[in-house]
Amino acid sequence: MTVQWGRGGPDLLVVLDHGAGALGAQIGDQLRSAIRDQRVRAGEHLPSTRRVAEVLGVARGTVVEAYEQLLAEGYVESAVGSGTRVATLPAGEGREPTRKSGPAPRPASRPVGIDFAYGIPDLGSVPLAEWSQAVADATKTLPTAELGDDDSAGSPHLREVVTAYHRRVRSGCADADDAVVVAGFRQGLTFTLATLARQGITRIGLENPGPREHAEIAGRAGVDAVPVDVDDDGLDVRRLRETGARAVLVTPAHQCPTGVALGPARRRELVAWADEVDGVILEDDYDAEFRYDRQPVGSLQGLSPSRVIALGSVSKTLAPAIRLGWVLAPARFVAGIVDEKRLTSRGAPGLDQEALALLMETGRFDRHLRRVRSTYRDRRDVLAAEVRLAFGAGRLHGLEAGCHALLRLPEGVSEDAVAAAAAARGVQVKPLGHYRFAPADARGPAPTPALVLGFGNVDEHRIRRGIRIIAAAVADVRGVHGHV
Ligand SMILES: Cc1ncc(COP(=O)(O)O)c(C=O)c1O
Repeated sequence: MTVQWGRGGPDLLVVLDHGAGALGAQIGDQLRSAIRDQRVRAGEHLPSTRRVAEVLGVARGTVVEAYEQLLAEGYVESAVGSGTRVATLPAGEGREPTRKSGPAPRPASRPVGIDFAYGIPDLGSVPLAEWSQAVADATKTLPTAELGDDDSAGSPHLREVVTAYHRRVRSGCADADDAVVVAGFRQGLTFTLATLARQGITRIGLENPGPREHAEIAGRAGVDAVPVDVDDDGLDVRRLRETGARAVLVTPAHQCPTGVALGPARRRELVAWADEVDGVILEDDYDAEFRYDRQPVGSLQGLSPSRVIALGSVSKTLAPAIRLGWVLAPARFVAGIVDEKRLTSRGAPGLDQEALALLMETGRFDRHLRRVRSTYRDRRDVLAAEVRLAFGAGRLHGLEAGCHALLRLPEGVSEDAVAAAAAARGVQVKPLGHYRFAPADARGPAPTPALVLGFGNVDEHRIRRGIRIIAAAVADVRGVHGHV
């Protein structure tokens, strides 16, 4: 991408030696090498001749002459009203590629038509007008005193608003003092795990299957990750007990990636486990806002505030690019989490925090959620209908909430082979095995092959087409040829 500097062009380093010959020639030489070295690239503006003359303290005519020479040599081009831009040099004229060795360039990958990646919201529905209004309001109304480094726990206003939201919508019971604003769930997890490690909790159970990245995050924070199997009721607490862990990370509202909800008995059992081992439950309140067929189940944090650390973010509800989230923790952990944040990143962007607080407080966030919830429900219904048509009933699981579901493939079909065949046809989809930590127990039955279908950012037309392509990929793998 070429940077489109403003009209006058940015300053460019040119150093003149007044004892070393013609100044115009020196300017020309230095600009020529800046262009050859690609310090300024094709399409970028050079500073105006007036600006260069002013900065270097030379006559404007001297600079104009140098520019005209570059124009004649083909290094730059100029058009009335748009200043002087660097021209595209013929091949071989520019700088040698800086990387002379190293890995060979990857062959151009096939353009991806449809991507069923989980965890991406509908990027076309991000409420940009409301966000930009909220940023404008924040810029106008945030007291000057708050433009300094904020309180390391985060903006008091946002902490008030987020905890009020969590109490109202998620049946939580945290107050602003229990909240730390972070740059998304992952950062919250990193700070929380580092705090647990400092307090002697050095082993955590992670849902299996689940994002393997979480084990890496744990390892870096000095916490050992142990996989704990998930069944149709969510995390198996009996297995968790066997691990000796005193912490666990769960996605109770919509397990990532199987889509099951943590059953009511399991919720109670999990809290009882935490009491027994003097442990802590990290609740990733992932997908909780998108529940379609039943009333949402409240946050575990509301059930056991002294044992649960709730982590949330707006990556799914607004956009990953906003990169704001929160950790709601029992008092004994808050100072540690704030210290981690202060020492690694000091704070979170103050104007964005204020904008998010305003967006939530004025009801625009809730309105947006109502809108996208209906989009996702429609997409989910289309997905369910299309899968039924292509694969028969009972193949799709985890549809009650969220923006991803699990497609169970016919027994004996390799999920990896299906994903590869679908990719060859331009559809990206992840096999469930991609989320398994440990190889399935060799003594038990082989796990049912399955694919994880994220549909948040795939429109209805593409969902239909994508499922037909996946069905054709399954037929390919089984040696039966279908048509799409
Ligand atoms: C299981 C899970 N929880 C939470 C998140 C949100 O993470 P973040 O807020 O860092 O974008 C993700 C993102 O992909 C996720 O996969």
